[in-house]
Amino acid sequence: MNRIIRNILSVAVLALAGCSSAPQTETDRKVEELLSQMTLHEKIGQMNQLSGGAWLADQAAKGEVGSILNCVDPAEINAVQRAAVEESRLGIPILVARDVIHGFRTIFPIPLGLASTFDPEIVEEGARVAAVEATASGIRWTFSPMLDVARDPRWGRVAEGSGEDPYLDVQMGLAMVRGYQGEDLSNPASMAACIKHFVGYGAAEGGRDYNSTMISERSLRNTYFPAFKATADAGAATLMTSFNEIDGIPSTGNKWLLKDILRDEWGWDGMVVTDWNSAGEMIAHGFSNDLKHTAEQSVNAGVDMDMMSYGFIQYLEELVKEGKVSEAEIDRAVRNILKLKFDLGLFENPYVDETASAKVDYAPAHLEAAKQSAVESAILLKNEGGVLPLDKAKTILVTGPLADAPYEQMGTWAFDGQQEHTVTPLTALRQEYDVIWEPGLAYSRDRSTKEFAKVRNAASRAEAAVVFVGEEAILSGEAHSLSNLNLQGAQSELIAEVAKAGKPVVVVVIAGRPLTVERDLDNCDAMLYSFHPGTMGGPALADLIKGKANPSGKLPMTFLRDAGQAPFYYNHNNLGRPNNGTETLLYDIPIAAGQTSLGCTSYYLDTGYGPLFPFGYGLSYTSFKYGNPVLDKGEYTEDDVIRVSFELKNTGMREGTEVVQLYVQDKVGSVVRPVKELKGFQRVTLAPGETRTVTFELPVSDLAFWNIDMEYVVEKGDFNLWVAGDSASGEPVSFEVI
Ligand code: NOJ
Repeated sequence: MNRIIRNILSVAVLALAGCSSAPQTETDRKVEELLSQMTLHEKIGQMNQLSGGAWLADQAAKGEVGSILNCVDPAEINAVQRAAVEESRLGIPILVARDVIHGFRTIFPIPLGLASTFDPEIVEEGARVAAVEATASGIRWTFSPMLDVARDPRWGRVAEGSGEDPYLDVQMGLAMVRGYQGEDLSNPASMAACIKHFVGYGAAEGGRDYNSTMISERSLRNTYFPAFKATADAGAATLMTSFNEIDGIPSTGNKWLLKDILRDEWGWDGMVVTDWNSAGEMIAHGFSNDLKHTAEQSVNAGVDMDMMSYGFIQYLEELVKEGKVSEAEIDRAVRNILKLKFDLGLFENPYVDETASAKVDYAPAHLEAAKQSAVESAILLKNEGGVLPLDKAKTILVTGPLADAPYEQMGTWAFDGQQEHTVTPLTALRQEYDVIWEPGLAYSRDRSTKEFAKVRNAASRAEAAVVFVGEEAILSGEAHSLSNLNLQGAQSELIAEVAKAGKPVVVVVIAGRPLTVERDLDNCDAMLYSFHPGTMGGPALADLIKGKANPSGKLPMTFLRDAGQAPFYYNHNNLGRPNNGTETLLYDIPIAAGQTSLGCTSYYLDTGYGPLFPFGYGLSYTSFKYGNPVLDKGEYTEDDVIRVSFELKNTGMREGTEVVQLYVQDKVGSVVRPVKELKGFQRVTLAPGETRTVTFELPVSDLAFWNIDMEYVVEKGDFNLWVAGDSASGEPVSFEVI
């Protein structure tokens, strides 16, 4: 009799006999039964996650591997699984993990691009597609979504998250968790989500990856926790600790975070994994003496599974014998791991059908969803004279290093997307136009201008030029911080060269982060910004350029004029000396000026106060007029729902979708409050000339924050409310919470 069936039978017998030790669910009973049969060594084996495939079979057979990552070959996965299920003493299946971040085979826009859609439904659909494709290859656990609020575009990992705003982060995180996990984790096409990196990793000083973070408890609670709390409450199955330390305590050894907050305060019952060797790195942090010490600190802090430090498997048995880690802590961790394996149905269904992936990878519906996501994620930043769409032109010049770069347009963390399946803008535009193709530059960092004369000559023969610039995939993502955010290589020079031909110039930026494109805006008539758009980026951008689709994306991060402005985010706290619109700039200061304070407000002498584009910004080929918002009441109590309505009119000649945004400001608080905060958004599609009444319903309880006494409350008093197309527009209306 195989071991799985034996386990199932013994559990069934136990269930019939009516197990006494108070476990509540059938799964709990199965977990307890199995746990009671395990040796300490086998328990610790479950807490060990290793990178690799078939060569881990021997360790799996000894019960020393709880999970593997980075193997995507179904045959190899089955081989390790067979060793665990059929050769290990208790036959506990292995959990197979992978970084499926924005698609598995069919690559969707990078998460920052997904956030630009402000469309949780399409994001959920993308995550579902990723789950269907990844599970068909045997992967049942993804290390996504990344929920790190990130306000500094120098940090390469801004690509992997939803940007600077906690509310948008919550909505995108929930959508991804729903998409990955589906209705029921036990469905073989469901994947456990992993909310990461807990916590504060996105606040690395200076945008330098792996750097220190300085975050107060209030700011953790108001800004960095909300997406973790919301997705934990929604049933996210697992959580990953972060590399960084906060206030001197690395997250992987932070009992306050992993026990007091996550378990006791939030009551979350999922499974906690470390980041890759984040336990071991506590030695480099100077927080642990050696690997053995890291294992002790991590498990005692509340970690369940170790990713690749090898510390748990080497030292936990010894630590238990020495009384430094209790067996109760080990049992706690193993319970969480086994419960997840039961929830995923791995005991019943440990193997993957090795022919399955061929049937689902790159399915037409998946490609269509990827294309729609890429369409919705592109942001129109400039469109002087309505140059876009290029619906009349027949002959266009296509140039630039990102026009035909199938690998680069997939972006960071796209390990399993195959570039042969990527459709580039060049390929797609050739279906629509007579294309003159001159690359100009071979890749985004190319500094050679030797091809520029050809490009300029080609531009003069075309009716319009479309220049695809940006970043290669490798320039953003983990460990890819930058201190200068201008276009790399000679890309800005290429745009300027094309402009000399005097034809309409459209620039399309394909990048992993907000770049500082101010000087490039001066040399073009229109600019579309597409965070690495994935497999179907080409057809999506071609539809937008041709006018078969209308841009509707909005910025999920503030765009800077200069990297020196970072970090810069719209929802900063009220200042004592806010900028009032008057700035004396560098070259306006008289020579030998006296030691005056130049207005005494918060701004830079060189770049002034404002950003290049505010959070939430994005144009359309049509235009929208916002009517005045009308509140249903002037005063609300804590249990009320605020209803605010306004008329939105499509004042242009095309159908278009506007992302309408709701912002609130708590005017006076027991602690200083943000100047405004996003509290809702909707995508509204209107025909030309159509007017619609748009209504937001905002529960007053959504105005709560962590106050002076570190309590989560709505404070009575006056508020401002805006409805607008971005975070810098609109006139406020006021209400009071009584
Ligand atoms: C390190 C990264 O920080 C994390 O996000 C990722 O999931 C793991 N490596 C596994 O690849």
